[in-house]
Amino acid sequence: MVLHSGKTKRPHRRGGSNPLNGGADPAFAATLTPPHHKLAEDPLPADTALQLVRDELMLDGNARLNLATFVTTWMEPQARELMAECVDKNMIDKDEYPQTAELERRCVNILADLWHAPDPDAIIGCSTTGSSEACMLAGMALKRRWSKLGRSGRPNLVMGANVQVCWEKFCEYWEVEPRLVPMEGDRFHLTADVAVEHCDENTIGVVAILGSTFDGSYEPVAEIAAALDALQERTGWDIPVHVDGASGAMIAPFLDPELEWDFRLPRVASINTSGHKYGLVYPGVGWVVWRDRDALPSELVFNVNYLGGDMPTFALNFSRPGAEVAAQYYTFVRLGREGFRAVQQASRDVAMHLAGRIEALGQFRLLTRGDQLPVFAFTTAPDVTAFDVFDVSRRLRERGWLVPAYTFPPNRTELAVLRVVCRNGFTHDLADLLIEDLTRLLPELERQPRPIVDPAVSTAFHH
Ligand SMILES: Cc1ncc(COP(=O)(O)O)c(C=O)c1O
Repeated sequence: MVLHSGKTKRPHRRGGSNPLNGGADPAFAATLTPPHHKLAEDPLPADTALQLVRDELMLDGNARLNLATFVTTWMEPQARELMAECVDKNMIDKDEYPQTAELERRCVNILADLWHAPDPDAIIGCSTTGSSEACMLAGMALKRRWSKLGRSGRPNLVMGANVQVCWEKFCEYWEVEPRLVPMEGDRFHLTADVAVEHCDENTIGVVAILGSTFDGSYEPVAEIAAALDALQERTGWDIPVHVDGASGAMIAPFLDPELEWDFRLPRVASINTSGHKYGLVYPGVGWVVWRDRDALPSELVFNVNYLGGDMPTFALNFSRPGAEVAAQYYTFVRLGREGFRAVQQASRDVAMHLAGRIEALGQFRLLTRGDQLPVFAFTTAPDVTAFDVFDVSRRLRERGWLVPAYTFPPNRTELAVLRVVCRNGFTHDLADLLIEDLTRLLPELERQPRPIVDPAVSTAFHH
């Protein structure tokens, strides 16, 4: 046990009581600091341990004021209750928890239906810890499919420089050349012509993002697919598309039903999404679905029998909590199509309203307006010289708002933006409070002689 003095000492056993059985004792707790580097010798009463850890966690930010993250920060109490009931279930143990496995299967079916899979019996999919793992699995399938073509040369993956870091990780970990198409002028994401220019016979696939982490814009998946159709006609190269729908695959089906970005396009081989983003579940759950078994080579799927039954598994990790999968199924049962539409529309309405109000302030220029993902990016207007986006981010943080400022990737690294992610639970009322705070601090920022924050130490929050 570590006392405030820094000395390690056995805890004071009051009246010889056993701390394993003890109750809360604030006076006792006040003399303690929890271990930082090694285990203490003795146990603490459960209530004291709870109080110590809970007190430290007070220093974490307020998740509801976090406009940086895409990840769910609010669920209904009923969902929390369900998750608490499922914390002890191991997702991988499908033999012991067959009904959790069944809920996972139903979620995959529901997603495949939302994404217009042409043959529901042919699809194959699974839950993951998030989109990053889902993207790794999808990328591995693309690479394996390419390697079966027997081509020599180094495999490459074509994508915009605006991809989330998980794709760069995938390329590094699985030895695939990342062909990152740079931004150019006001083109902030991948487009069909530049995607095709970067392809060759060793391209394992093209990643199209719905929508971009940097500014919330949808990449033109249908145009990219059509350009690849034309490329195949010219060259014979049959290059599949993977859609990284980390956020948008749970927005577009409800708010943009006419937009063709999914399995309606025959070239789309696989799609991922984050259940814990606009799937409206607490972290961490993601999903990946393949169009058919041709898109997921069978040798990547392992069958294990040591948990009782004979179970197929395709995942990077093994044990994983089942609670998030149950919570995902809960949101599907609870909301239905219309409920999802209403929730996502509310987020889009707030995003567009807030973007409009920020534009009306006069000191900012919008790059996106929140009309695709409920996300928008903005920068300072050209005539603003006293402050920059990093100053705005820092000052908003003083009020508890987390609005990240970051620079864009090549070839627009000189462009720095602020980004606001509107999620379920971020209401018009909170948006108005944010505008009030921003309006209040702008005159102070304008009195600065010049921007004062070093971008190198600013937040760069890209997930
Ligand atoms: C487009 C995109 N892909 C992948 C990811 C990674 O998602 P996760 O945090 O679920 O692993 C993100 C996260 O923001 C993203 O925006």
